[in-house]
Amino acid sequence: MSLWGGRFSEPSAAEFKQFNDSLRFDYKLAPYDLQASLAWAQALMLAGLLTADEHQQLQQALEELRAAVLEQPELPLQTNEEDIHSWVESQLIEKIGATAKKLHTGRSRNDLVATDLRLFCKAVCGELITANLAAIKNLLAFAERYQAAALPGYTHLQRAQPIMAGHWALAYVQMLQRDVSRLKEAMKRMDVCPLGSGALAGTTAPLDRQALAEALGFRHACENSLDGVSDRDFALDLLHSASTGMMHLSRIAEDVIFYCSGESGCFAMSDRISSGSSLMPQKKNPDLFELLRGKTGRVFGHQHALQTTLKGLPLAYNKDMQEDKEGLFDALQTYLQCLQMLAFAVPELSVNEAHARQQATMGYSNATELADYLVSKGIPFRDAHHITGEAVVYAQQQGKPLEELTLPEFTQFSAKIGDDVYPVLELDYGVQQRSALGGTAPSSVRTAIKHASDWWHAA
Ligand code: ARG
Repeated sequence: MSLWGGRFSEPSAAEFKQFNDSLRFDYKLAPYDLQASLAWAQALMLAGLLTADEHQQLQQALEELRAAVLEQPELPLQTNEEDIHSWVESQLIEKIGATAKKLHTGRSRNDLVATDLRLFCKAVCGELITANLAAIKNLLAFAERYQAAALPGYTHLQRAQPIMAGHWALAYVQMLQRDVSRLKEAMKRMDVCPLGSGALAGTTAPLDRQALAEALGFRHACENSLDGVSDRDFALDLLHSASTGMMHLSRIAEDVIFYCSGESGCFAMSDRISSGSSLMPQKKNPDLFELLRGKTGRVFGHQHALQTTLKGLPLAYNKDMQEDKEGLFDALQTYLQCLQMLAFAVPELSVNEAHARQQATMGYSNATELADYLVSKGIPFRDAHHITGEAVVYAQQQGKPLEELTLPEFTQFSAKIGDDVYPVLELDYGVQQRSALGGTAPSSVRTAIKHASDWWHAA
């Protein structure tokens, strides 16, 4: 039975009902709708609007429904109700009859759906934080394992300077740590309860809204009923966090795809997470990481869609807001799944250490070291940069790396160059020089791992 038949003399057209109904996706809110209804029933009893006996009947029926949907989440889909709120009410009526019809006293689907969605978002936000922490843990294990493994580092995708593979992984740890903090911030802002806002103007029930908010695990009750029913900023905050988080996953995915490519060959994926080609027998493809990168697009899209839906809506509730759910559900599910896949995939990656080290020495990636060496001999950096550039061109023409130039070849460029230049051009020398906070020296990487794991244990 529809919740609003009284003023109508004709039933909805099937075409309209199909377009209007939201049960096919909002059934996912069932546990939260039942939780909100349990708290509402209690608040009505405390306000003297339900007898203890009526409350007890409602409570029992709601608990039974909650157990049923926890066991079978798709249970509501067996009916033809308009939305999850209608489903709960019709199930209650089936179970306990007339008393069930009292539950909606003083409340509206408008404050109810806003409450359900916040409860849902809070729960998912917690899962996303946990999933980020699991991914961080595995990135830290990778950083620990490869803290002293050299890797070519790039800018503009041109070989730039050698880095430690552990340092590379720790960059992503930083990003995911920020994602955790963004989610925690979003969690704080969403911790406000709209229940008791009524349809838009507030509830007629004489109840303690702060106590009701706390009974549902919220910190505060919302302070304006119009805003309470029409605010979806909390969903946008979460979509923003998801978009930024996915952007990070997309970037790590891109790096892994590159380092696993034939052109680089510095990383290897286990067979367990790689796929083949139906035609080319030699192929070992990074589909997992391409999907992490590819799924980022739909999460961005959902964020943009909701922001656009809300733009220009007049106060208070409008049915446009029903459009908040499908994209949000998909975005959060996608982000969660991608975080779980990243955590799963990182232990399946390895660094081809000897090859990566050799690659890291190529491409004149020790040129900065030569320039710094000249500076240490009293040459101003700009001149040292110029001299080194000339030496690089010469070495390229000879088809040799810098460290294979002879001393007479070096002194063509500067008389200040002596035998002591050779140790400076070694890979280990260069990375060890970068031992200040945040640098790639193995000693700094070790400190950073310790710092990040202390953070992880406190998180
Ligand atoms: N299914 C609706 C939604 O998700 C519930 C609120 C309906 N309220 C209303 N006044 N029609 O937004």
